[in-house]
Amino acid sequence: MKETLFVKKTLEFSKNLHIDLVKKLFVFDDVDSTNRIAKELALANAEEGTVVVARTQHHGRGRFDRIWQSPEGGVYLSIILRPRKSTQKISLLPFVAALAIARTINLYGLNANIKWPNDTLINGRKIAGILLESELKEDAIIYVVVGIGMNLNIDIRDFSPDIQPQSTSMSHELGSPVDYHEFLRTFFIQFEKAYFLFVENQYERIIAEWKIHTDTLGKTIRVQTSTGTLQGIALDIDPFGFLLLRTENGEIKKILSGDCLY
Ligand code: BTN
Repeated sequence: MKETLFVKKTLEFSKNLHIDLVKKLFVFDDVDSTNRIAKELALANAEEGTVVVARTQHHGRGRFDRIWQSPEGGVYLSIILRPRKSTQKISLLPFVAALAIARTINLYGLNANIKWPNDTLINGRKIAGILLESELKEDAIIYVVVGIGMNLNIDIRDFSPDIQPQSTSMSHELGSPVDYHEFLRTFFIQFEKAYFLFVENQYERIIAEWKIHTDTLGKTIRVQTSTGTLQGIALDIDPFGFLLLRTENGEIKKILSGDCLY
């Protein structure tokens, strides 16, 4: 671990964090990907609540093998979870994480919307993303790594031109920078609250609260799935996290994951 000012300050911050869920914080200055490190730790038996945080990533990964641009000023973290649940419940964890992010952003006076399943947007521009990776054995969850990238104090011009028009950051929206550690604390509190609902089997409540923040339902959308593209009206989310889509011929399709375009 290179002991930069970021690492020093964040380790100091972690000593006074006192959030039950966050058991241990590994802090790095620059890494390839916090998800990769978290998976390595999970394989070495790291406990639930182990978190990896980095100032920057040089190989941040997004969904669908995309690159997650990770310049200085963003929040890049991965949380190891080991829920004692059946594997089918994993599909609700993206909702848990998205809910925590949206609530965090809202606490800063901004209106965050969730685009199904888990992109957080402000005024239609992406501010945060979630990448879940897991290891399952038969019907047991061995571990889940919840990787989260949030654009905090980033000048949009630090992103490559192709993603600038659809990206935003907290500092861009607020017109001034946000305290990194205060934001991290707020996020951990919200994540713990949302994850608690999951641990307590309050799945319908998770979906109900997620729905308060989503702007996908009711819209005509196109979803790219591993088996093809579907178009229709996003009707609802079922208690397992499936999107119910009414296609043009009136059929109701249940979709677990995909890339959603408005
Ligand atoms: C997406 O919207 O495509 C998901 C982006 C997830 C990015 C985060 S940043 C921290 C963690 N480490 C990674 O390599 N990816 C996730």
